[in-house]
Amino acid sequence: MKKEYDFAVGAQRLAKVEASPIRTILDRAAAMRQQGLSVIPFSAGEPDFDTPSDIKEATIQAINKNLTHYTSNRGYPALRGVLKGYIKRETGIDYNPETEIILTCGAAEALNNVLFTFVDEEDEVIVLTPAFVSYKCLVNMCGAKFVEVPLDAANGFQIDVAAVKAAITEKTKMLMLNNPSNPTGAVFNRESLAELCALAREHNFLILADEIYSRLVYDGKSFSSIASFEGMKERAVIVSGFSKTFAMTGWRLGYIATDEKLANRIMRTHQYSTTCSPTFIQAGLSEAIESEKTKAQVEEMIQAFANRRRMVLEALDEIEGLSYIKPYGAFYVMVDTSGLGLTGAEFVEKLLSEKYVATVPAAGMGCGCDNFVRISYATSEENIREGMRRIAELARELKK
Ligand SMILES: Cc1ncc(COP(=O)(O)O)c(C=O)c1O
Repeated sequence: MKKEYDFAVGAQRLAKVEASPIRTILDRAAAMRQQGLSVIPFSAGEPDFDTPSDIKEATIQAINKNLTHYTSNRGYPALRGVLKGYIKRETGIDYNPETEIILTCGAAEALNNVLFTFVDEEDEVIVLTPAFVSYKCLVNMCGAKFVEVPLDAANGFQIDVAAVKAAITEKTKMLMLNNPSNPTGAVFNRESLAELCALAREHNFLILADEIYSRLVYDGKSFSSIASFEGMKERAVIVSGFSKTFAMTGWRLGYIATDEKLANRIMRTHQYSTTCSPTFIQAGLSEAIESEKTKAQVEEMIQAFANRRRMVLEALDEIEGLSYIKPYGAFYVMVDTSGLGLTGAEFVEKLLSEKYVATVPAAGMGCGCDNFVRISYATSEENIREGMRRIAELARELKK
């Protein structure tokens, strides 16, 4: 007997997995560029800088040395060795490079693996929103319950510990946290992180801490890794990578750092999904990540992001009808468009079609975000000047 399937629908686990609103905008902007229009890219979370030169050079050499075969599933041993020191500086914690660090194809693979390793269909996963769009999709792909805890814009999108507490049930298996945050730019304060950790210990859930923007912090704010709190190494999985800080989005390299017992379990999903990230990339990075030139080039990029942030905020300060929530990390700012009588999605549409500036509506990033737009300032000062000029022009026209 033949069974009826609609293959175009795919597996049922995809029923609640939506297409990314960011990709939709990027595709439209690309099509407009093809028509010869000059579209300002305020949409992608992707640094426009070149990857540090020593990393490129060392990777070319690694290819010439024929480091083009599989490496250990956990990652190229020399890179894990170097990352031990790097991760210690970021988190304050010693992770054993033999057993507690896993290299992945971007933080994206790391997030996927951690979810699929620990989350079952009957579980609940708490996500603080607005959040990176992948989180909801990954929870839904696992068939688990996505439990949203919306953060308040008026409170700078800081953690609302009471709201998290109210969302915890017997089924809470995990809380996903992105610090500094995409899309809000919030850098969470140490006190509320400590309270979250206390809740995780008391109610026995894991914290998946996506700390990919940990080095992009401004105005004297300091970043605290979730792993740095007492007793958290055993119940926190740190996900990070090189895409943002090292301008390496296309290289696809990220990592997981966690306690040995959890890492051993994650190896099951990692091994059967990608086997390993490309060996020559890992070898190149292990040679060059700590070189003086790489360090200097990374510092220059961080400084450039700080200047770009200042330029965007100063320009926004001058635009009547737009307000924003001051960001302290990553390279995004959430802008409220309600003063112009438009929802975020309406504003994004007008801005793209009339002024050729690509931004992203925040509506898909969490409830309560309908009036917000995310601007990414991971683009040149020249683009920022021109893009902000066009935004101001649209706002003036709307105010008339
Ligand atoms: C919060 C967050 N996590 C993870 C990623 C994925 O990074 P990667 O390029 O390392 O896969 C991104 C990329 O935009 C991000 O913003």
